[in-house]
Amino acid sequence: MHQVELTKELINKYNIQGPRYTSYPTAPHWSSDVSSESYQEALQKMTSDDSSISLYIHIPYCEQLCTFCACNVKITQRHQSVGDSYVDLLIKELDLIDQNLSKKKVALQCHFGGGTPNFLTIEQMERLWNRLKESFDISLDGEISIEVDPRTVTKEQLRYYREIGFNRISMGIQDFDTDVQKAINRVQSFSLVKDLFETCRALSYVSINFDLIYGLPFQTKETFMNTVDHVCSLSPDRIALYSFAYVPWLKKQQKLIDPKTLPSPEEKIDIFLASRDFLFDHHYKGIAMDHFALETDEMFKAFESQKLYRNFMGYTLKHTQDFIGLGVSSIGFLQNTFVQNHKNLKTYRSNLEENILPTERGKILTKDDKIRFWVIYSFMCHFFIDTIEFKNKFKVDFNEYFKKEEKHIQKCVEEGLLIKDKDTFLTTDLGKLFIRNICMGFDAYFSPSSEQKFSQTV
Ligand SMILES: C[S@@+](CC[C@H](N)C(=O)[O-])C[C@H]1O[C@@H](n2cnc3c(N)ncnc32)[C@H](O)[C@@H]1O
Ligand code: SF4
Repeated sequence: MHQVELTKELINKYNIQGPRYTSYPTAPHWSSDVSSESYQEALQKMTSDDSSISLYIHIPYCEQLCTFCACNVKITQRHQSVGDSYVDLLIKELDLIDQNLSKKKVALQCHFGGGTPNFLTIEQMERLWNRLKESFDISLDGEISIEVDPRTVTKEQLRYYREIGFNRISMGIQDFDTDVQKAINRVQSFSLVKDLFETCRALSYVSINFDLIYGLPFQTKETFMNTVDHVCSLSPDRIALYSFAYVPWLKKQQKLIDPKTLPSPEEKIDIFLASRDFLFDHHYKGIAMDHFALETDEMFKAFESQKLYRNFMGYTLKHTQDFIGLGVSSIGFLQNTFVQNHKNLKTYRSNLEENILPTERGKILTKDDKIRFWVIYSFMCHFFIDTIEFKNKFKVDFNEYFKKEEKHIQKCVEEGLLIKDKDTFLTTDLGKLFIRNICMGFDAYFSPSSEQKFSQTV
């Protein structure tokens, strides 16, 4: 993508609340109509062919609560007892899943997220990994990734993950400024991160990602540039530069943040723009609004050759039709059905104890959902729509089907987000940055005036 001249005016114009489209329909539109029985049926159908799958394993535990955090987490320091018991639950879940699988599927992607996956001890991880390999044939050429917390991960763990096949790693950095770190209850030094980063490099992880957040309490452009400068001195392959999702109505720990200490929306945009320019000047390329990668990173190559894919974890390189989520609150997508496990740990546990797959809710895609999913997905990943391909796939003319959306499409064209060619809609460089705004117009469930609250794009 060419590096578009972004101005405050442009950002203000497109900076509205909206979904991130890691799924369509988005999670608020799922219901309890999808039950354990629906999940069982989908699992059984899934093994009728030889296609590969993806796996996500959620480890919800952290030692300490970061006040900004919007993830599904539980705080405890009892690694041994809590970790042992959680691994037991995951194994129980795998046992119940296995009862519905008639063959061992190849997993091309396997991601451990959280919370903090390195909360599990090496022995616990070993028990889980070995059990996972009994159910699935995890491809060592695939993307095998893990999120780690620099404050708690040990070099021994980093070595162990690499040894068993993990090839991608992501570290939560957020900000290196001491005042910001104190305000978010997350103190971690640059020297600690540098040491772990160098260990990961020496272990030849294929890709190392850093998570940063702008918009945190006490951040200023100057302090955050200092953080970005420190990050660039290490040159991680990828950087996720997240906008602070401030949703105190959903996450009570965020009520501990004094809103008066947050940068104003204007300052927040300034911080984002300055960081983006700094990253561009330091060999990073923009993938999407909040993702950057070195030119040498496979994600940038996939982006350039329009071979990027997307799932609940964000952008990925391998595409699989079916996706299994394990653990409390995890999401799966199988046979055109979204399934989510119970978010409440007690309910998740009691379901498993009663030999029931712990499904809380989901969504079976209707024909219209499938069509719009395809369009949104094509825009989010490939940044264009081929209307001939659309017609061949769905046996209906694109312009006929999206008559109601004509005004939105026209507006996107006039404002320079989309280029309409004979049979294609191509996103411009500006459109790539504000891809979510293009997608919102194709989302049959989205209404900017609805009660549903989302975080801002920037
Ligand atoms: C599961 S955590 C990463 C692993 C580990 N728990 C850690 O914090 O180092 C996932 C990432 O989500 C991002 N995140 C969490 N809460 C957020 C929020 N409210 N707004 C934006 N990003 C957030 C952070 O950048 C965090 O690193
Ligand atoms: S940011 Fe990471 S370590 Fe902090 S509470 Fe959230 S998941 Fe846990």
